[in-house]
Amino acid sequence: MGTTLIGTEPELLALLDDLLADRGSAWWGDFYKDRAKPCPFFVEWPDENLMAWAGQGRLGAGRALELGCGNGRNAIFLARHGFQVDAIDFSQKAIDWAAERVRTTGADVRLQCRSIFDLAIEPGSFDLVYDTGCFHHIAPHRRPAYVSLVLQALRPGGRFGLVCFQTKASSGFTDREVYEQRSLGGGLGFSDEQLGDFWGRYLNVLELRPMRKPSAEEGAFGEDFLWALLAQRRVG
Ligand SMILES: C[S@@+](CC[C@H](N)C(=O)[O-])C[C@H]1O[C@@H](n2cnc3c(N)ncnc32)[C@H](O)[C@@H]1O
Repeated sequence: MGTTLIGTEPELLALLDDLLADRGSAWWGDFYKDRAKPCPFFVEWPDENLMAWAGQGRLGAGRALELGCGNGRNAIFLARHGFQVDAIDFSQKAIDWAAERVRTTGADVRLQCRSIFDLAIEPGSFDLVYDTGCFHHIAPHRRPAYVSLVLQALRPGGRFGLVCFQTKASSGFTDREVYEQRSLGGGLGFSDEQLGDFWGRYLNVLELRPMRKPSAEEGAFGEDFLWALLAQRRVG
């Protein structure tokens, strides 16, 4: 970039990305190198809230888009539940892992290795957008683009499911501190009030609760430092 003056929004976003380059695709590539390391979400189980919402018939049916899909555990669950799934992650290592699991399970999941901000989405083409653990790694200056992506992808009445950090699990940085510290500090956490107010500006929030930590026998993933939010795109 050097001495060239910033004149466009993409240039401004790229500069801010660069200043906070602590959780880019290269970092996540390294993170997924060792699949045997202890990491809560390096499991095959889907999220407990996703299983619950599916069981309650609250997810709808049709096409699902998963943002930051990791090893594909939730995408595969959604495919088994009848969704046609597009699952996105910008870490090639994560996508390789997900591809192996998709092959093994024979699930109907289309994987793409790219940033969620580089997706070309046909407006209103998804019935469900789902994200576990990606949103809390999105820097504040990218949040408007994240919201636009969700709103653009969902058909009216479509559902949005989100799992993200509570404040106790996170860096505790405010949006301002992210830029003062030049870091997301391992991920941003939110209070239930912040999260409900934020998503309530754009969607009807149907449920917002702490995630449940299931017993090992349940075959589900959950941690009590995460929120689970289910919302719906407004009709009209
Ligand atoms: C905490 S991990 C969660 C992975 C998976 N959802 C799970 O729960 O098993 C966050 C994931 O988001 C991905 N990610 C973060 N920012 C992204 C972006 N801008 N575009 C695509 N993927 C992204 C990372 O590569 C990583 O796989």
